Amino acid sequence: MKTLDPVKKVRLGYVGCGFIAQHIHLPNFASLRDCELVALAELRPALGRKVADHYGIKTLVNSHQELIDNPEIDAVAVSADYMVQGEIAADLLAAGKHVFMEKPMAVSMRQAETILAAADKGGGRLMIGYMKRYDPGNLLVRETVRRWRQSGEKGQLLYLRNHGFTGNWTAGRDTTALITTDEPMPPKSREHFAPDWLPPEFVGRYISYLQQYTHNINLARFVLDAAAENVTVKTVDLDADGMTGIVVFDMNGTRVTVESAQTKFHGWDEHTQVYFERGWVHAHSPMLFANPGQPKVEIYEGGDAPYYSYPIPTPIAAWHYKEEAQHFLDALRSGEPFRSPGTDALADVTLLETIYRKHLGL
Ligand SMILES: NC(=O)c1ccc[n+]([C@@H]2O[C@H](COP(=O)([O-])OP(=O)(O)OC[C@H]3O[C@@H](n4cnc5c(N)ncnc54)[C@H](O)[C@@H]3O)[C@@H](O)[C@H]2O)c1
Repeated sequence: MKTLDPVKKVRLGYVGCGFIAQHIHLPNFASLRDCELVALAELRPALGRKVADHYGIKTLVNSHQELIDNPEIDAVAVSADYMVQGEIAADLLAAGKHVFMEKPMAVSMRQAETILAAADKGGGRLMIGYMKRYDPGNLLVRETVRRWRQSGEKGQLLYLRNHGFTGNWTAGRDTTALITTDEPMPPKSREHFAPDWLPPEFVGRYISYLQQYTHNINLARFVLDAAAENVTVKTVDLDADGMTGIVVFDMNGTRVTVESAQTKFHGWDEHTQVYFERGWVHAHSPMLFANPGQPKVEIYEGGDAPYYSYPIPTPIAAWHYKEEAQHFLDALRSGEPFRSPGTDALADVTLLETIYRKHLGL
């Protein structure tokens, strides 16, 4: 594994300057002083030109392949289509580049395993954009659960509930500020990388569920420190839309539920509550694009003099996406492990295949 020079800026290439790149990652990386955006790869050349000029990115190329041989690039961030971004990451990792990629890491176990094999071969490190692991509210929940488990002060850990009904995730962001062109979107392959066993007519629904709930499942595993081998899918009860319903897991011996639906709620309806015999900790997640995020956490501590507390998660002005970007740069330069590494994300890909197999009875 190559650790980067701790005093030099990370020279970053970027692949795919669409929605999430322009709203989130390019402005974030451009604003972090440890980072220099040096190259952009984009299949739509006119869009690439406008975005590269806007951010002062000196090298614009069509294909990520052209980033591979550029020795001036230390690492690459990727946000392209769900299906193809894993293939892009694999090529870069095989060539020894470090990669930050948007979730989902892969749309099938087969694709995930190919990506991890590429990283093994090339020596690049892979971090997945699970920004919920960088939300200070979720971090406070995790710390509290760890502390109570270790001390035993609140009795047995009973249950984790993640309610993920979504809603307004862009927090009123001005979408007209996005740089656009008349170029058509590159064709999106919907089937090629999907699991072999999944009938083509279900691929769209599977991707819709996967791309949203990979976050929630990953967060539940993070809060409970549940490694892949300690997680099973017990029950799947989803409607025919393949989206609305509930999935029950066993994570480290604890029952976990993930409730899913896509609503037109004007806010963001996601909260995570972890119950012990004599207490609970409950985080309400902010709208994803709200900056700063300002998550809310309630802690109930039972006993002879029970009380609620509402600690303000710190840092108070944090935004999960920016914390995530800073972590990527820090870990590359310190050698510390990523908080959301690709090796761990394989578990989510595996669980999502299992959920859909059970849902479809296949
Ligand atoms: N974490 C989050 O909150 C969050 C939110 C939105 C999207 N995402 C993820 O980000 C990814 C991208 O989503 P988006 O909404 O930005 O998509 P998008 O379609 O708006 O942008 C993708 C861009 O990549 C370009 N592109 C596609 N294939 C390419 C290739 N081979 N080489 C170079 N450029 C290529 C396209 O031309 C487009 O400009 C998705 O996987 C999605 O899951 C994450």
